[in-house]
Amino acid sequence: MRVLVLGSGGREHALARALHRDPVVTALHCAPGNPGTAEIAANHQLDPTDPTAVTELAGRLGVDLVVVGPEAVLVAGVGDALRLAGIPCFGPDREAARIEGSKAFAKEVMAAAGVPTAEARVCESTAQVEAALDAFGPPYVVKDDGLAAGKGVVVTTDRAAAAEHAAACGRVVIEEFLDGPEVSLFALCDGQHAVPLLPAQDFKRAFDGDAGPNTGGMGAYTPLPWAPPGLVDEVMATVVQPTVDELRRRQTPYVGVLYAGLALTSRGVRVIEFNARFGDPETQVVLDRLATPLGTLLQSCAIGGLDPALRLDWLPGAAVTVVVAAENYPASPVKGDEITGLDGAAEVEGAYVLHAGTARDAEGRLVAGGGRVLSVVGTGPALADARTAAYEAVARLGLRGSHHRTDIAREAAQNDR
Ligand code: AMP
Ligand code: GLY
Repeated sequence: MRVLVLGSGGREHALARALHRDPVVTALHCAPGNPGTAEIAANHQLDPTDPTAVTELAGRLGVDLVVVGPEAVLVAGVGDALRLAGIPCFGPDREAARIEGSKAFAKEVMAAAGVPTAEARVCESTAQVEAALDAFGPPYVVKDDGLAAGKGVVVTTDRAAAAEHAAACGRVVIEEFLDGPEVSLFALCDGQHAVPLLPAQDFKRAFDGDAGPNTGGMGAYTPLPWAPPGLVDEVMATVVQPTVDELRRRQTPYVGVLYAGLALTSRGVRVIEFNARFGDPETQVVLDRLATPLGTLLQSCAIGGLDPALRLDWLPGAAVTVVVAAENYPASPVKGDEITGLDGAAEVEGAYVLHAGTARDAEGRLVAGGGRVLSVVGTGPALADARTAAYEAVARLGLRGSHHRTDIAREAAQNDR
């Protein structure tokens, strides 16, 4: 099988790594990829959001499957263009990707499908915003209706700040605050059936103790020893399958990964948001544990033959990933500083380093090329071992001004004895 992965982050490096170890994958390409994927795949410089360029490349390479990483690629209609050209694509069409691209659309689908989520109002004027803030009360949750790379959401008890964010966004969704731990659950879908991956937890805030601004994600771990038994089956039955059924009923079948961001509230499971793609950095830990070959699995989704009774095989033990971010991430990350210590980090048993936002400078040195620079993965029999491995590897890395959270999976590891 010849596979092309679109995107250039830590998630794409993890996807490429998992595809690389599938024996049926005989050729692996990434566009644009990063210096990490270059070690296991052929990188192609192109804009992955350009449907014509992607279709031309996929045709020229004769690939049997295109796997889409970032949401922007889906929203640009790359899935539509590939399918039109007869090239199997793991990733939904533009219309189905609106489940992520428009928060208002997601709410409408959830209402039609009876999926439990926060009560919400779509607001376009100051008067509507003020009325919604009154109705829900603090803490206020204000979301930009469009794509904002995980940074369009403000959760605050400061009413003026909530109103200010709404004014800056234009069209917003204002909703009920959901209390309780968050879980990311990814389901692989073929338009009709869905199969869950392991649930994971993500750390969205920039600093320890969930302080600081929201980010794309600063770390993640799986499995979740504290999750209630039956959680995955419940979410598949009450959230994922009804959503897949509703999109199929609308004749926009959902092909790809449906990412349910969930809050486990005292009143039950609620959807915080849907994403139309693998989460980053949760994918790094989830795919680390996956023993079922990924290429065949994603291809069966893309061509429409996913066996709904399929039970995936998972490695025992745990995985933790810690993101090393550039100075000033998420506000305005500093690029261009050299990254050192990768060889030392690779020697830590049970750990490895995925490239997230790296680049080569004119002299060929590895430098920071994005906000989230590296995603360091640690594995072990228990979460505590996986944490130790990840943080030992992080300690061996050097990047001037960089920062990372020191509390990824700490609480879960303490309770996992
Ligand atoms: P999103 O971009 O929708 O993933 O939101 C980013 C983060 O904001 C989520 O991971 C939550 O931590 C938080 N958030 C979003 N919606 C709510 C809500 N209704 N109640 C509480 N927190 C929320
Ligand atoms: N880690 C959160 C996301 O990928 O949106």
